[in-house]
This record gives sequence, structure tokens and C-alpha cells, in this order.
Amino acid sequence: MCGIVGYIGDKDINSVLMAGLWRLEYRGYDSSGVASVIDGEMEVRKVKGRLMNLQELLAEKPLSGTVGIGHTRWATHGEPSDQNAHPQVGCKNMIAVVHNGIIENYYSLKEELVKRKHFFKSNTDTEVIAHLIEENYKGNLKESVSKTISRLEGSFAIAVICTEEPDKIVVYRYGSPLTVGIGKNENLIASDIPALLDHTKDVITMNDGELGVIEKNKIEFFNSHGERIEKERKRIKWSAESLEKLDFPHYMSKEIHEQPQIIKKNIELKIKGNEFDFGVNFKFTPKELANLSHIIIQACGTSWHAGYIGKYLFENFARIQTEIDISSEFRYRNPVMDGEPLVMAITQSGETADTLAGLREAKAKFLKILSLVNVRGSTIARESDSSIYLEAGPEIGVASTKAFTSQIFQLYLLSLYLSKLKWTMDGSEIKKQIKEIKKLPQKMKKIIEKEKGIKKIAEKFKDAKDFMFIGRGINYPTALEGALKLKEISYIHATGYPAGEMKHGPIALITEGSPVVAIATKSSVYDKMLSNIEELKSRKAEVIVIGTEGDEIIKNLGSDVFYIPECEENLSPILSIIPLQLFAYHIAVLNGRDVDRPRNLAKSVTVE
Ligand code: AGP
Repeated sequence: MCGIVGYIGDKDINSVLMAGLWRLEYRGYDSSGVASVIDGEMEVRKVKGRLMNLQELLAEKPLSGTVGIGHTRWATHGEPSDQNAHPQVGCKNMIAVVHNGIIENYYSLKEELVKRKHFFKSNTDTEVIAHLIEENYKGNLKESVSKTISRLEGSFAIAVICTEEPDKIVVYRYGSPLTVGIGKNENLIASDIPALLDHTKDVITMNDGELGVIEKNKIEFFNSHGERIEKERKRIKWSAESLEKLDFPHYMSKEIHEQPQIIKKNIELKIKGNEFDFGVNFKFTPKELANLSHIIIQACGTSWHAGYIGKYLFENFARIQTEIDISSEFRYRNPVMDGEPLVMAITQSGETADTLAGLREAKAKFLKILSLVNVRGSTIARESDSSIYLEAGPEIGVASTKAFTSQIFQLYLLSLYLSKLKWTMDGSEIKKQIKEIKKLPQKMKKIIEKEKGIKKIAEKFKDAKDFMFIGRGINYPTALEGALKLKEISYIHATGYPAGEMKHGPIALITEGSPVVAIATKSSVYDKMLSNIEELKSRKAEVIVIGTEGDEIIKNLGSDVFYIPECEENLSPILSIIPLQLFAYHIAVLNGRDVDRPRNLAKSVTVE
């Protein structure tokens, strides 16, 4: 899940490629590099570590030339190093390649090439591509790339330049995303739209098996049979400004603060009186949905936690049997999918390889796919029968926040709509729920305004080495998400548990002062939650409680209490997750972590 960029035009190649890479750094930050053809020579600048290292290298040794490619890496094959950084070149330094994905048969290809006296300079899978293209080159770059592609297995979005044809970039997409940006007297390519927005809003999204030849004033696309194809242009709504951090110290902080506004926008877009409008990409008929008896949700990470909450909502409100599965398991466990279940894919990026593979697995069984997705035009959105967009705007921070609350919101609305079609909820109850929903933005804002309170608790626990997060019912997945947020940005071990499960083993880990975050908002399982907190207190745990405003009981129970506004139980995850996001954020900041670029992670996981 690297980030690749390319530019052909007259602007300064260094600043255009760097600007694009800065916009893609969330896709991987183990090393980076750029290449350009200058006076018939291939010039490569690449270095291990953060993009700043490359920026400094280019300040010392800038490139010139009018065609260039760039890469920011999330290491899969070969540890982060200068040699393993992309671009990778062949023996004659005639071809340079940047690649996002994995070449699964690289080992056998490398053996072949070594036998044919090719000399390898890196431990990457990618380098085989450069050597093969070079070997296949007979004066036509497009042809040599096509010939090489036919030998590769795995996932690969690539961009290639050649000293013999400095007037073009040849790109190919299979399994990893690639978008072309159309400019005036210039053109660009990138793994993701943010890298294009500083130059153009007109883009063309490539599909699997497509090859593109990108010249300054001409773009051609070819399908897997080598036939020329026309492709549709799209205009991106996102502004380049929406990609800025504005006055926030981190994208994660900005995105946490954007949540009330995003829910407000979704309410305006999707609730019309007592009716629901999921947008033009929602193509299921009321009749189809009224007959729905089985839903399978498959997703990864934070999106999986949202899906887990969806299970509670679909079963509570619409009485539809709902399974929740982690995509990488769903993909290979040959699941039983009788009774034509609706298969849902929940994803922020729309490019997560495991979730995409799960989707394709279900499609292979002729099942209908509904995706909840944030990025328009993403692969999962395009391959789904229907999509509901999160309308959360670009999410840049690697730790997902605003996408999570918007995912829960969509699931909530959909479960109300299904309950209406299946008559499991009467009109007055639905009206009451809609009234509750409309109070959400204000309540979310109120929680965020009390950020100082959660920061104070974070200061108290910033040196802790281990945390447990507990919740019951619909807030069990919220506890899982709270633990994930803390783990992924502070690198402190944290585990989420169903509170009732503690006494079946995990409570053995509790000693004096062990920090436990407990979600104990007013709910049908509130009393049970209080007992679970008491059990932990009797073993001298430090229990940080997320409770409902006005609840005097927990005031004396928790060692630290953070209050959130009263709200309907099934809506409470949208509120109770916010203090957990802020808690993780402040602990990470207090520990000097790079919150937006946590180690070993990437925003969009495009390899299995
Ligand atoms: C969450 O903070 C992580 N970035 C990660 O777990 C993420 O949720 C997961 O990779 C799924 O991504 P998606 O929603 O883009 O499919």
C-alpha cells in the first residue's frame, strides 16, 4: 500500500512530485524516491525514512526534465533501506519503475533473470519488473510493459519511464488503485486523488487490467486485449483545501473535530421528513429489502468494529439475522451463504484488498453487494451493486475517526429504513428515533468542547503500559474500537473485551492500578456494567468510566469519570467513541508519537 505519482509537463518536476508524495504519505512512509529522464539519462533520487529525507536530498541534488515518477513505500518485500526504496531500475539504467502491490511470483522470476545474468541491487519484489521490461524492450515501451505484465502474478499498480522515450509515462493497474489527472499541457498519475487535486479536478479512474500511455497532451488507454478504449472523465468535488490540516496540530485532531459537522451534513442529505434517501448509488428496491432475511457484513479494522455495531442495529431494529466477519477470514473460510444474504462491505478507503477480495468472493456466489464507503470512484464502490457514501470528506489521518462515526450513522439509518419496510418498528417509534438522531451533532459538539477533561485523564495515564477497554451490548464493539485507537497511535498494548467476559479469564491480568476504560452509559445493561466495574475495583483497578451526564452513581465508582450527554442506547456508540478517540490522541501526543503516521501502518491496505 505504497503511494505512486507521475508527472509529465513543464512545471518543476521536483516540486510537483514532492507535493504529490506529501499528499500520499499516509499510504506508507518507510522510504521514498523519484526518477526523471534528463538528457537521455535516468536520474534517480531515493532514500530510506520519511519524505522529509527525500525533500532534503532533492534540495541538494534536484532533478530536471519534464517527465518523472515518484513513490512512498510501505515495505512488504525487503526491509526499509535506500536500495529497497523505489524507483527500481534495470541493469542498463534505462527503465525506472514505481510499484504499489505485491509480485507473488517474484522469486521464480528473479531466479530466471539471475540465470540470464541480470544483477539485482535490492531485495524487493518490484525490481524484477524493471529487469523484465528492460529485457523485453525492442523500441516500444508500451509493448515491453504489456509483455512483462503477462508474466506477473499478484497485485500491481505501476508507472514506468524510459530514457529512450522521455515523452511518456506508461502505467498499468491490477489489484491496486491508479487514477490519472488531466491537466492543461500536462498530465499526472497517482495512487489516490489527493495527490492530483493541487493540479486538477478532472480525473480518470483506471480499472484492473488496463494500461495507460500518458503524454503531455495525449492520454491513451488499452484493455487487457491491447485494444484502445475510451474512458469516462470525472470531476472531483473535494477541494484541495479540505486536504489541509488548517489550524489543527494533526489531521487526526482535525478529523475528530469535524465529526459533528459530518453527521449534520448526512442528516441534511439523507433524512427527508420521516423518509430516508441513501443517494443515487443505492439501487435496492423496497421490495428486495423487505424480503431480506440475512445480512453478512465483512470489513477490516475500524470498519469491522462499525460493522459489529451494525449487527446489533439490524437485529435490534429490523430483526434481520446478521453475521459480522473479518474480511481476511471471510475471504478464505468458504462461508455458508444460504438464503441469498445481502453481503455488505464497509470501508473508508474503498481499496482495502481483504474487503475487496471478500466482496469478489460473494459476487462469485451471485450475491448482491452493498458497500458503505467514503471514497467515491474507489474499486469497492465501483464493484458493488449499491453503495452508500459516508460523505466524510478526505480522511488523511491513518487512524480512522470521522469515517467510523459516519459508518455507524449510515448503519443506523439503514436499520431504521429496513425496520420500516419489514414492519418491525411502527411509524411513531421511527419518528422518535429520527428526533434523537437530529440531536446528535449538538451532543457530539458538547463532548468535543470538553476535550480538556479527557486530556487531563490522558496525562494521568500516559505512562501506563497496558490498558483494557470494556463495554456491553452495542458498546462492546465501541470498546474494541477504543482499544484499537490507543494501540495504533500510542503503541501501548490495549485490548477490548465484553465486560461480562472479564471474569472468564482476562481479570487475571488486573493488579493494583491496572487502567481499565469502561463504557457505562445509561442502557439496558447498565446495572450489569456497574457490577463488572465493582469486580475490577475490588481488585484495585483504576477504572476510567465513560458515563451519562447526571449519573451520580458512577461518580463514586470510577477513579476518573468522563460524562457524555444522555442519548438513546443504540445511538450511544456515536457519542461514547469520541472521548476514546481523544483519550488515545492525547496519550499518543503526550508520548511524542507521530499521530498521523503511526509506525508500520498505512491508511489504505491494498495488499492481502
Ligand atoms: C483504523 O484506524 C485503521 N486505519 C485500519 O484498521 C482501517 O480501519 C482498516 O485498514 C480498514 O480500512 P478501510 O476502512 O479503508 O477499508
